[in-house]
Amino acid sequence: MKILVLGGGGREHALVWKLRQSPLVDRIWCAPGNAGIDELAEPVAIDVTDLPGIVAFAREHQVDLVVPGPELPLTLGVIDALRDAGVRGFGPTRAAAQLEGSKTFAKELMRRAKVPTGFFSSFTDPDEAVRYVHEVGAPIVVKADGLAAGKGVLLCETAAEAEKAIDEIMRWRTFGAAGDRLVIEELLAGEEVSFMALTDGATVLPLASSQDHKRAFDGDAGPNTGGMGAYSPAPVLTPALHDRIMREIMEPVVRALAERKIVYTGVLYAGLMITAEGPKVLEFNCRFGDPECQALLMRFAGDLAAVMDAVARGALAGTTLDWDPRPAVCVVLAAGGYPGNYERGKPIRGLEALRDWRDGMVFHAGTARRDGEVVTNGGRVLGVTALGRDVTAAAAAAYRAVDQITWDGMHCRRDIGHRAMERER
Ligand code: AMP
Ligand code: GLY
Repeated sequence: MKILVLGGGGREHALVWKLRQSPLVDRIWCAPGNAGIDELAEPVAIDVTDLPGIVAFAREHQVDLVVPGPELPLTLGVIDALRDAGVRGFGPTRAAAQLEGSKTFAKELMRRAKVPTGFFSSFTDPDEAVRYVHEVGAPIVVKADGLAAGKGVLLCETAAEAEKAIDEIMRWRTFGAAGDRLVIEELLAGEEVSFMALTDGATVLPLASSQDHKRAFDGDAGPNTGGMGAYSPAPVLTPALHDRIMREIMEPVVRALAERKIVYTGVLYAGLMITAEGPKVLEFNCRFGDPECQALLMRFAGDLAAVMDAVARGALAGTTLDWDPRPAVCVVLAAGGYPGNYERGKPIRGLEALRDWRDGMVFHAGTARRDGEVVTNGGRVLGVTALGRDVTAAAAAAYRAVDQITWDGMHCRRDIGHRAMERER
């Protein structure tokens, strides 16, 4: 098989790394890639939003499968564009990707399919949004409806804070066009888990459970980020809870889409809050979580190319997924200032010594090669991922590797996996 992966983050490095291990794969490209990916895949200088460029490349090189990592090409319709050109892609069509691209679409679908989620209302007029806040009271969540890289979500303790959030999104347009419409929703309390499944629109096959750490600092403090670390499995997800999530959330959503003539294929990612009343949906994503993907693929023991091809061909029925029973922990190393402004181009030290690391893998995210040296090129720079006999051991192994890496301004959380470790104790 010839495969083209789209993206250049830690998730895509993990995808390329795992796809590379498949005996089915002869050739693999990645657009645009990063310093780590480029050692495993041939870099292609095409932007992930350049759909005509992607289609042309795939045709010219007779690519068998295109695997978009991030949501943006999916919500733009890369799968539809490829399909029209006779190329198979792994992921949902533009219509199906609305599940992530539009919170209003997702909430309405859930309401119709009776999938448990918090109450919500969406607005295009800031004055109406303010009136609603005063009607339902605080605490409350205010979100930009479009894509805002996980940052357009404001948790508000008071009505005054909510009013300020509405101003930020709609009047000051901090998140740009994502703020044309906003969603106000119930604040759900509990433990958060990421639940991902593969689906071809008919069969829904759950992946191992995982949990990420969204806040920037230890103790789940500070601003939201794309994710500062992750681990798999998430012990909060008992077998009973797992079955309930499949029955009450994953399967009904895929069915509800099918009833609307939308065949969802690819990864369906549900961000869930395990509340006192049971699991409730915070949001859906139409792709693998980053950094959950790094922890998951560290544990995945099957042939990823074969599985992805089965999804894309609509032939998932009968497939089983094998997992390393050992937990995996991924610690994200970020640039100084992230998730706010940060500098690029800082030389990274310590990577060479970890090349032959046996317990894990250093996945590159925002890195580039400059004059033979690996330098930082993004906010989340590396995802140091290790296996261990339990989460405590996996985290210890990951942090031993983290302690060998340094650059000017590097920061990371020191408590990745803490909830699972508390359970283990
Ligand atoms: P989102 O971009 O919608 O995934 O939201 C980012 C993060 O904000 C989530 O991972 C949660 O930690 C938090 N969050 C979002 N919506 C809610 C909610 N309704 N209740 C509580 N926390 C939320
Ligand atoms: N780590 C959360 C996400 O990928 O959306």
